[in-house]
Formats: sequence, C-alpha cells, structure tokens
Amino acid sequence: MKIKKGVSIFLLGLSLLSIRAQQNELESKVNSLVSKMTLKEKIGQMNQQSYWGTKVDDIEQYREAIKEGKVGSLLNIVDTETINAAQKIAVEESRLGIPLIIGRDVIHGFKTIFPIPLGQAASFDPRVVETGARVAAIESRERGITWTFAPMIDISRDPRWGRIAESFGEDPFLTGKLGVAMIRGFQGNDLSSPTSVAACIKHFAGYGASEGGRDYNSTHIPPYQMRNVYLEPFRETVKAGAATLMTSFNDNDGIPASGNEFLLKEVLRKEWSFDGIVVSDWASMAEMITHGYAKDLKHVAEIAANAGTDMEMVSEAYIGNLEELVNEGKVSEASIDEAVKNILRTKFRLGLFDNPYIPLNIKSSAYSDSHMDAARDAAVKSAVLLKNENSVLPLHRDQKIAVIGPMANAPHEQLGTWVFDAEKEHTITPVNTLETEYSDVNYIYEPGLKYSRDTDTLDFSKVISAINSSDVAVIFVGEEAILSGEAHSLSDINLVGAQSDLIKVAKSTGKPVVVVIMAGRPLTIGRDLPYADAVLFNFHPGTMGGPAIWDLLYGKANPSGKLPVTFVNEIGQIPIYYNHNNTGRPAVEDVNILGQDELETEQTSVGNKSMYLNSGYEPLFPFGFGLSYSTFEYSDLKLSSNTIPLGGKMKAIVRLTNTSNVEGTEVVQLYIRDLVGSIVRPVKELKGFQKITLKGGESKLVEFEITTDDLAFYGKDSVKKTEPGDFYLWIGGSSNPEHRAEFTVIE
Ligand code: GLC
Repeated sequence: MKIKKGVSIFLLGLSLLSIRAQQNELESKVNSLVSKMTLKEKIGQMNQQSYWGTKVDDIEQYREAIKEGKVGSLLNIVDTETINAAQKIAVEESRLGIPLIIGRDVIHGFKTIFPIPLGQAASFDPRVVETGARVAAIESRERGITWTFAPMIDISRDPRWGRIAESFGEDPFLTGKLGVAMIRGFQGNDLSSPTSVAACIKHFAGYGASEGGRDYNSTHIPPYQMRNVYLEPFRETVKAGAATLMTSFNDNDGIPASGNEFLLKEVLRKEWSFDGIVVSDWASMAEMITHGYAKDLKHVAEIAANAGTDMEMVSEAYIGNLEELVNEGKVSEASIDEAVKNILRTKFRLGLFDNPYIPLNIKSSAYSDSHMDAARDAAVKSAVLLKNENSVLPLHRDQKIAVIGPMANAPHEQLGTWVFDAEKEHTITPVNTLETEYSDVNYIYEPGLKYSRDTDTLDFSKVISAINSSDVAVIFVGEEAILSGEAHSLSDINLVGAQSDLIKVAKSTGKPVVVVIMAGRPLTIGRDLPYADAVLFNFHPGTMGGPAIWDLLYGKANPSGKLPVTFVNEIGQIPIYYNHNNTGRPAVEDVNILGQDELETEQTSVGNKSMYLNSGYEPLFPFGFGLSYSTFEYSDLKLSSNTIPLGGKMKAIVRLTNTSNVEGTEVVQLYIRDLVGSIVRPVKELKGFQKITLKGGESKLVEFEITTDDLAFYGKDSVKKTEPGDFYLWIGGSSNPEHRAEFTVIE
C-alpha cells in the first residue's frame, strides 16, 4: 500500500514538473516574441475588427491592416477559405507572422442548435451543457473559428431582461457548475486540438442586474453582493481554466466595466491569477464616452489600457491613440506588454503558430446524426413540466390530437436567440415530427395564429372545429426568437398577441388542453394556467425541439427539468428570487386585501410584512421546481454529525423513493441557510444537486458531502471564509423543500 502511495505521489510530482516545464516554455516563447515587436505591432495585437465581407476576395479590404500587423483578431468571419486567406496574409506577409484569432458567437450551437443556455440550465446537468459546447466547438473549429464568446454567466434575476435567455439563471452555484461544464466542452483538454475553441466568460461584471431589466442600463451592485452573487461564477470558471473574458456594457455604481481597474486588475489578475485575454464587448470601450466616463477616444484608450482591457472589440480607440499615449507617458509600455503577452499566450495555447490554417477537405460534422441526437437529448432534459392534472399527460398514440398554435411549426423561432450560422431548414418542428417519426399519430393542424405576436383571431373558428373533432388539444405558444436576447427587454411578459385568448378558446370546447410553451424567458402565465390541464415549458429548445417535445408528451421520455429561475405571478413582483435575504419583516402568508370585502379596516389589519397587497410574496413557480410523470418522496433526512469543526465536513443523507410505477429522474437539491452572519445571509443557498433515476417503486439513499468551505462567503473584510454558527440544511425537489436538518459549525 505504501509503495502504491509513493508511486502515485511520484507520478503526481512528475506531472506537476512537466506542467511547470510546459508553462515555462510557453512564457519564454511569449517573452521572446514580445521582445521582437515594435510598439505599433504590439498595439495591433490589441485591435479586434469585425469582418463585413461576403466573398473571399473581400478580404483584400483588410490586407494592408493585417500585413502591417494592425489587427490581432477578426470576428464574424465564418467562411473557411476567407479565414485561411486572412491567416495567410498575417502569417506569410506580416513582419513577424503572428496569426489571427478568429472569433464568433457560438452561444448554444454553431449549426446544430441546442436549447438556449437558460434551457440547458433547466437540465441541472453539467454533462448536457458540456456535450452541447463540445458539439459547437467541433462544428465551429472545423470551419476555422478558434474563439467563441460563451459561456455567458451573468446571474439573471429579472425576466424582463432579454439576455436572461443566454444565462444559466438566478443561482451562483448552478451557474458556476454549468459555466465550468461549458468551458470543458468548448476547450476540451487541449486548446490546440482541432476540436477545441477558446471560451470566453462574460460579461464581467454584474450585467444581469441591469436596472429595470432594461438592457445596457446601469447596475448598482454593492461590494458584498458583487462578491457573493455576481463574481462567484467568474471565480469558479477562471479556476477551471477559461481562456478569455469579456467586459460588460454596464456601469456599476458609475464605473463602466471596460474601465474598471479594481475588477480587472485587483480581482481578476491579482486575486484570481487570470492569465488569459480580456476583450471588451462590442464598442463598450468607446461607449465610455457616451457613459460620460471618457471625453474622447484617446481618453477611452488611456482608461481602458490602464484598467487592464487587453483587446478592443471594433471601436479602434487603441489603434488610433495608444502609441501617442505611450509616448506621452500616460500609458506605460509595460502595460502594453502585459496585454500583448495575454493575447500571444492564448494564441500559442490554441496552436495557431504551429497550425494557422484549416484544411479545406474536412468533412463537415454539422447536423450529423450524433450531433442531432445530442441536441434532442438536451432538449428532452431541458424541458420543465409545470402542470399535469387529470393525468392528461402522457398522451396516448390512439388519441386524435388537434395541433394548435403559432409555435407548432416555427423553425426559425424554435431555435431562439443568438443563432447566427444555423439554417432553419434543419430545424425539426413539432409538425415536422408528426409528418415523420410520429406519423402514426392521427392529428389535425390548425395554427389559429400566424406568429406569436399575431392578434388576428379570424381563424379561431377553425381552431374550435379542429379541437371539437379531436380528443385532446395540444397548443404551441410562446415567443418568437426576436423577443429575447440582446437589446430585447420587455415591460410585459404575458404571452404576447392573442395567444392567451387562443388557450381560452381551446378550453371552451371542453376538451383536455395541453399547452406547450417555447420562450426565451419565464413568462407570467398565471392567467393562462386555469385553462390548461398540462403545461410543458421549453426555453427555446433548438434544432431538435420537435422530436424532444413529442418524446415527452407521449411518455417516451419522462420530464426531469427543473426551473433555473423563478416564475413570478405578476411582473410587478420582480425581482423575486429564491436566495433572497429574510428582511426584518418577512411575509408568512399571502393577504390579498383587494379581494376582501371589509371596509375601513384599521391601518395594521394586514400586518406590516414584506409583500404586495394584490399579489402576495410567493412566486408562481419557485426556483428548482419541475414535475415528472413519476412521483418522488423524500424521507429520513440524516446528518453524519450535527456539529462540524471549521475545516471539517459531514454527510447529508436522504431516502428518495419513486412512489409511482413509472421510471423517472429527480434532481435532488441540497440547500443551506447560515442563520447568523457578519453580514445577513440568504434564506436559502443551493449547495448541491444530483440527478437520480429510479424505477417505479424503487428507493435509494442519496448522499451529499458538505465541507465547511462550502459555507464560506465574503464578509465585511471581503475575504471568503466560513463563520462558526448554526445552519439549516434542506434536501428536496425544489427550493421549497420539506425536510430540514440543523447543524452547527464550531471553531
Ligand atoms: C454583443 C454582445 C456580446 C457578444 C459580442 C460579439 O454585443 O454583448 O455578448 O459576444 O457583442 O458579438
């Protein structure tokens, strides 16, 4: 045994030595190259341009700049021949032959589109997220793309914000785990592999807190919340080896992110030792003028360079002003060198110096069977069953179904936001699926509305007769893709157009009604629920959404998704999120005074609690909620100990039983609460989740290990540590778990 241990320590030592040797070799290459570069060439590396050409010889418009070493990166160039042509100029015609890094937003797929990230988050499955990113990396690198701008890990608590679609939702723990998984998928084990692309964690930082859910708006995140909520996923993903990071558009407390030296230098570089590229967002540097933080582009370049933004996306402040700023001593050449080293280090890691060109004879893997199967699996696992009464689901193959709604056959909309390179012709919609794989189903298709925003109800009579001639109505509603994503915030998140009327009309027939929603955000569907016997919610499910939805509706797959974000009753309740502070007056019951008939009640009749008189304090559906065709029971929650010394650990064990006769998968969630802290702590925090599959009637002990490090937070001294004291611990199937245990952390 001792020999075995000795050998493993020896091997570990060897691998650490070889990693160190590789790092040293890389640094000497970077330093040697920088030492040969002129100031102009260094500044050229810090300049990223967007490509606007449409055919190969359009690259001629960029030849001079590339040849003179004025461009370090091109984005939005996806034609392999053009990429090779651009690379040839850089490598063979510029003085030092430094290759370009080619960027593209491949957010949830390049050709084969997976569910939007908010949907992938609903799977609570890092393997789903990693697989999706792997497929995207393979499909994009083979075309010559070497850098993508994902994962977006902005904590998002406001469904009015269109970019909640790109996020993993409201929880820092889940976002961190899934962000790490996405980086693993994109970057693989070796960035220089022909199947890897550099990931980019974004947007640094706090963008998801845009005031009013209005995109690009200011954020007002105080230091403790910044650390404990918004920065945690970035810290996790930097630790996991994210190659690059993008600054955000917002000013936080008056400081635009691209000029935030504290975040970019103190936190990112000094505390977290990040050694990759920091790239600005699209013109976010120049927008510091609009913010009122810089007086002109020269001032922009000075602020951003001294703050630590390495590369400028498209606004050309650096290329036009940095040389003068260095000559005036306003920006040191040492700062420029640091930025350039970060850029070159990433290019070396990507293997661009050794293999700058993409072979033109690679057979495209786009839409391959294995990629489409992976997208279907992801869409199945990303769907959330919100309601299923009278066992209307799963459907039976012998039922005649009326397929209704504007999203039943909407190949473009089904893909969701941030889809630049996929062809909608490859989308398999629910109607396509009934024409192919599920062609045995007896159905009648009557959209009723032409698109989600349509208010023309002229065809409702056809809808009624279609449903009257059927056994059950399946209504596909939701949001067109354009209604979510960047710059697409909404001040009303009810179902748009006449879709709610469509559901009501369907219910008026007296037939069972199944509502299938495809959207880019949580919606206020409270007013629709009474008219639906079942609701299956899909955050835009991607290319294979059609087959996935029918697999779920017919029980070929059993829904297992859980909400990664809270669904509110009314938009006026926003923000509601599960990991909130308790306040001094937490509401304990909903008192809807507007529904009461008492008059002239006394001032304190409803109790002075934190709630709304007309919509209470409870959400419509809480974080972590999701139904299944199975039913699961939790029992016998036990802790291995009720006291843990600082630095120690314990086990939390619960019995999970599938009390139905249908095999199903449950996302078992573990939450804690720190009852007293040096700053107030949330009423619940997710600290673990496991997906457990049980056959009907099967029972299993589910075990979590909790260390005191898992309980740490940033307090008044901005140091992350665990404080001794009393804690609650819950394990359950949502953020409203029923079983609670207690433990104490001791010195
Ligand atoms: C956009 C987005 C950012 C994206 C970048 C490049 O404005 O904010 O997320 O990666 O520009 O397209």
